[in-house]
Amino acid sequence: MEAFPLAVATLLAWCCVFAAGDADKPPPPNLVVFLVDDLGYGDVGCFGNQSLPTPNIDRLCREGVKLSQHIAASPICTPSRAALLTARYPVSIGMESSRLNRVFLNLASTGGLPVGVKTLPRVLQESGYSTALIGKWHLGLHCGFPPDFCHHPNSHGFDYFYGLPLTNLRDFGNNDGLHSSVLKPFMHLVTAAWVSLMISALTFLWLVTKRACAAAMVFLLMCSVLGCVLMPLHNFRTFSGVLMKNLDVVEQPLDLDGLTERFVGEAMNFIDQQASDDKPFLLFLAFTHVHTALVPGNKFRGKSQFGAYGDSVMEVDHSMGQILAQLDALDLTDNTVVYFSSDNGAHQEETMGDGSPAGGSNFPLKGGKGMGSMEGGIRVPSVIRYPKVFPAGREVAVPTSQMDLLPTFASLAGLNVDTRRMDGKDLTQVLSNGTDDSPHKVLLHFCGTYLHGARYVEDVDHVWKVIFAHPKFLPGTYRCEFICFCTPGDVVTLDPPLVYNIQEDMTEKHALNPATDKYRQVLDLVKSAARDLDEALMVNPPEDQFSILNSIWRPWLQPCCDFGKMCSCDS
Ligand SMILES: *[C@@H]1O[C@H](CO)[C@@H](O)[C@H](O)[C@H]1NC(C)=O
Ligand SMILES: *[C@@H]1O[C@H](CO)[C@@H](O)[C@H](O)[C@H]1NC(C)=O
Repeated sequence: MEAFPLAVATLLAWCCVFAAGDADKPPPPNLVVFLVDDLGYGDVGCFGNQSLPTPNIDRLCREGVKLSQHIAASPICTPSRAALLTARYPVSIGMESSRLNRVFLNLASTGGLPVGVKTLPRVLQESGYSTALIGKWHLGLHCGFPPDFCHHPNSHGFDYFYGLPLTNLRDFGNNDGLHSSVLKPFMHLVTAAWVSLMISALTFLWLVTKRACAAAMVFLLMCSVLGCVLMPLHNFRTFSGVLMKNLDVVEQPLDLDGLTERFVGEAMNFIDQQASDDKPFLLFLAFTHVHTALVPGNKFRGKSQFGAYGDSVMEVDHSMGQILAQLDALDLTDNTVVYFSSDNGAHQEETMGDGSPAGGSNFPLKGGKGMGSMEGGIRVPSVIRYPKVFPAGREVAVPTSQMDLLPTFASLAGLNVDTRRMDGKDLTQVLSNGTDDSPHKVLLHFCGTYLHGARYVEDVDHVWKVIFAHPKFLPGTYRCEFICFCTPGDVVTLDPPLVYNIQEDMTEKHALNPATDKYRQVLDLVKSAARDLDEALMVNPPEDQFSILNSIWRPWLQPCCDFGKMCSCDS
C-alpha cells in the first residue's frame, strides 16, 4: 500500500514536467497569405515600379525575403490557385484544361478542386489551426445531386469562408463585360427565335397532326434548352456574381462597391478572434482586386496616376497595411509568416469598356496572363516575411514556386506532412540563411495541359529556361483577342526550342546556340523530367475537372439566395 502515494507523487511529477515542457514549447507560427488577382511583376515598388506607390508591400520587402524569381504553376487563376493550395502541378490533379475553358465559368457545374486532395488549409486544420478564406475561391462548388458543396472552401479545410465562390468579372461592374455588351442583346434575339420556333412546332404537332405525345416530347426538349442554356446566359450576373458566408449566399448579385473594405473587416475580425482564443491561425486573404471589373473603394478613386487599375493596386496595398498594423498591435508580428503573391501576371489584353487598357505591368518581362511559357505570365511579385527566422531584407533570386508554400510552412510549423507526392519543395533553408541553392532542379511550365516551357536550375548563376511553344503574340504586330489560348492550333511551336539563361537574361534576348553541348544537356534534362511526370499521370490519370460533362450548367446546382425574389438579395 505504501507504493501508492509514491506512484501518485511520481505521476504528479511527470505531469509537471510535461506541463512545463508544453509551456516552454514555442507557440506554432501563424500564417497570413495575401494573394492578389492579376497583379504584374512591374506593378510593385520593390520590384521596380517608381510611380505606383506600394509602401506596405515595400515594407514586407524590407522586413522579409523578396522572392525575385517566384513562379506560378499556371498563367491563369483556377489552376494556379489549385497548385498554390495543394503543392502539386495542376495537371496532376485534373485542374488544367486541354480546351479553351481554362477557368471555371459558372457555379452550377461539377468541376472543382478534387475531393480528398491534400490542401494547405486541411493540413493546418488537422493540426489545430483555425483557418479562414476571405475573398476569391474559383475552385468549384458541387460534385453532384443533391448539391453537396464537395468543392467548397469549407470542404477543403477552411473553417470559415466569406467571399466569391467564383471570381470577379467585368460583367459585375459597369455592364461592359463580354456577356453584357455582346451576348445579352444577341441572347434576346435567340430566345425570341427559340420561343417562336417552340410555339410553331407545338401548334403543328398538336393542332395540325394531332400527335400529342410527340408534342409533349418536343415541348420538354425545347424547354430544357431554354432552361439550361438560355436562362443561365440571360441571368449571368445574378447566377455567377454570388457572395457567400460559409454555405449561405448572402448577396446576389454581388456589389463590388466597398467589397475590399468588407474583406479587410472580415479578416481583422478573424484575427482578433484567434488572438483572444490564443489559437494559431491561417488567414488566406484572396483579393478580387486587381482583376476587372475595377471598382476601387471610395477613398482610392483617382489616387494613382494609373486610373482605376492603379487605384485598385493602392487599395490592395493599403489593405495589407491594415492587417500588418493589426498584427503589430496584437504583438503577433514576430510569430507570423506573411506571404504575398499574385496568382499570375498582369493581363495585357484586358481593356475597359471604352477600349483603354485595364491590365497592369509585367515590366521588364515578356508576355502576361494566360501565356504559359512567357515570363510575364508566370513570374509573380512575391515576398515572404517571418521575422523570427528569416533575415530581413534578403533577396532570393533563384527559382522558387508557389507550390512551395505548403511544404515550407509545414516545415516551419514542425508538422509531419507526407510531401512525397508534392511538386513543391521546402524552402526553409534557402529562406533562413546563406545558401542560395534552389531546392528545385526542374520546374515545368504548362499552358493548359500542354507543356510550353520549363526551367532547369544548374547553379546560382545558371538557370536555363526552355521555350517549346508560345502564343501567336508579337508585340506591336499581333496580339490575342482578350486572352491567348494554349491549344495547338493557337500557338507557335518552336523547333528547335529556345533556351535562355534566365538568371542573367530575364528579358529573354540572347538564346543559347542549339549546336552547343549545354543546349543538348539542358533539353535532355528537361524532357526527361516531363517524361517522368507524364508516366506518373499515365499510371494515375486524374479526373479531368474541365471535361464537357464537368462544365455544363445544371439548374439544380445553381446557388440562389431566394427563389421568391428571383435569386436577388442584399446583405
Ligand atoms: C508602374 O505601374 C503602372 C500601372 O500598372 C504602369 O503603367 C507603369 O508602366 C509601371 N511602371 C513600370 C516602370 O513598370
Ligand atoms: C541554416 O539553417 C538550418 C536550419 O534552419 C541549419 O540546420 C543550418 O545549419 C543553417 N546553415 C547555415 C550555413 O547557417
